[in-house]
Amino acid sequence: MTFPIERPRRLRQSPAMRRLVAETRLHPAGLVLPVFVREGLDQPHPISSLPGVVQHSRASLIDAAREAYLLGLGGVMVFGVPNSRDAVGSGASDPDGILNVAIADLKGAFGDDLIVMADLCLDEFTDHGHCGVLAANGAVDNDATLDRYAEMAISLAHAGADIVGTSGMMDGQVGHVRTALDDVGCTDVAILAYAAKYASALYGPFREAVDSQLRGDRRAYQQDVANRREASREVRLDIEEGADMVMVKPAGAYLDILREVADVSDVPVAAYQVSGEYAMIEAAAERGWIDRDRAITESVTGIHRAGADIVLTYWAAEIARWISEGSL
Ligand code: PBG
Repeated sequence: MTFPIERPRRLRQSPAMRRLVAETRLHPAGLVLPVFVREGLDQPHPISSLPGVVQHSRASLIDAAREAYLLGLGGVMVFGVPNSRDAVGSGASDPDGILNVAIADLKGAFGDDLIVMADLCLDEFTDHGHCGVLAANGAVDNDATLDRYAEMAISLAHAGADIVGTSGMMDGQVGHVRTALDDVGCTDVAILAYAAKYASALYGPFREAVDSQLRGDRRAYQQDVANRREASREVRLDIEEGADMVMVKPAGAYLDILREVADVSDVPVAAYQVSGEYAMIEAAAERGWIDRDRAITESVTGIHRAGADIVLTYWAAEIARWISEGSL
């Protein structure tokens, strides 16, 4: 009988030992809470496919942001849900549009204490639901869209956004937005580039959350699920164009991409655990098929371990609460 010389189990024998040797740790500062604010609400409205997540009123958004601040979260990512839409998504760049007023509310309430990120995309504001404006043939017109993104970026910056998240997957969007911001003196507004964003089925519940008008899909501008090398190209271009941070989205099914991006990026790397990832765990847990809290922790820890410095997750506040209570 020979005995093992190396015994990895020694370091797993108790919770305290495992805690000591954990290679990755979740911290509230690395978690960002995506939030929805809907025009005209006087109280929060539930989103059936995202149990526990709501469309906020302007007032309840402030309460959620206060909680995010008190929990020490890295920030909030704000999505606006307007009452009316048009072909060019005018509401996105209207200073009185719901996203811009909500950002101004948050900045007025929290100033520099809370990082406010804003989704820089037209899809919530267009009556066709696409992320850009359409050409005569119905395709999304890349370069015409860039000008709308520039206008939107400036209004988000003037409303007070610290970071704009370019999520539309138009070619050249980061460079175009950077130039537009710099030209009006908004050099301090950072760009979080949704650099590798895939055409995913996992955005399903989000479409309900923002009352999306989309018919069809986004495969002509978001990345093909099959491709890995293409993600490196997108990340390289976004960094060259001036991205301050890059993101991989969705997260859980793209951990290989995330690892690869983290290995080469010299800017912070974020990952977005999207609505479908949230909904799948919530739904299975509701049926008693998995242990909800452990599945949540495992999914987010896995994303962090794969290379994300920053994780956007609808569970951000709940996880931060577990951390502060010492249960994680
Ligand atoms: C685009 C945008 C989407 C999401 C974040 N930003 C939808 C899409 O690309 O179709 C999805 C996020 C999620 O599913 O949680 N504005």
